[in-house]
Amino acid sequence: MDGLQYNRMKKRVLSGIRATGRLHLGNYLGAIKGMLALQDDPEYETLYMVADLHAITTPYKVEELRQSRREVIIDYLAAGLDPQKSILFQQSANPHHAELAFYLSSVVTIAKMQHLPTFKDKVKQYPQHSTMALLNYPILMTADILAYKASAVPVGIDQEPHLEVAREIARRMNQDYGTDFPEPQTFKTKGEYVPSLTGEGKMSKTVEGSYINLIDDLETIKAKLAKAPTDSGKGNLSTMSAGVSSLLTFVQLFQGEEKRKEYEMFYQKEGIRYGDLKKELAGAIYDELKPIQEKRRELESKPQEVDRIIQEGNEKASALAAETVKQVREKMGLF
Ligand code: TRP
Repeated sequence: MDGLQYNRMKKRVLSGIRATGRLHLGNYLGAIKGMLALQDDPEYETLYMVADLHAITTPYKVEELRQSRREVIIDYLAAGLDPQKSILFQQSANPHHAELAFYLSSVVTIAKMQHLPTFKDKVKQYPQHSTMALLNYPILMTADILAYKASAVPVGIDQEPHLEVAREIARRMNQDYGTDFPEPQTFKTKGEYVPSLTGEGKMSKTVEGSYINLIDDLETIKAKLAKAPTDSGKGNLSTMSAGVSSLLTFVQLFQGEEKRKEYEMFYQKEGIRYGDLKKELAGAIYDELKPIQEKRRELESKPQEVDRIIQEGNEKASALAAETVKQVREKMGLF
């Protein structure tokens, strides 16, 4: 076969991030760090994409999407994903995902999709945009995974309902049509749960004031932290407000557990001075982001190289997915 025939002894890993804007600390600590660990593990073959088709399932701006689908790949590269080790690609540049999603949709009921908590949440968030694309979101995600027969999917725990759908579809396809899809499992990396700066829920691109971007400079980080809610600085750990508790989570993530314990002591005794805490924390976060930002600037000065990397990734992924789609078409009587 061609040089793209991957080593089947290795486990395939596929993951992606929605192209809904620039990447933030939540993506970095929660997802990209896990992706990095897997790409360096010889047991795995890794494919990482930017999910630009998923981005059109909720309201979006055309020009912003056009940028994000490229920027996310640049962020991947800046954070250390390596095109020599991983296939980095754009979901929509590869027509097989949407095609496979349609075939897979024939084994899924509408009722099943309507009852998913992830669907209900999005409908609540965008009541005017309860579209078929949104209903199809989990099926498209299943196609992303099954197109490569990936068995491990490093994603946050919030994606588990989608993985459950993927397993069900894989089983149904194997039963009804004799395909050989593995049942993909959520791969728990050491990814961290990164809370929102507002203290409510997790850091998210779609919640204003909740996130710090990978490209934020020190001043921006300071300004964002300054807006994070606090309290009087003193009290009981058990009744600490959500805002303060998430600030302390950031302290732990960027300054270590000892530092967090120190602040917890202050909280119970003389009190925390949030101005100082936030200033120090901003510095620690920036220190971690600085090398990524430098790498990013370097990449921005070489647009042709980035284009080449994206194109090569798209071609490799597309060739692999094409084989799966061909098999599915044959098994389903479409060939
Ligand atoms: N739904 C995922 C998220 O919001 C993004 C995604 C799309 C994905 N397709 C995927 C993740 C395939 C893993 C595998 O985080």
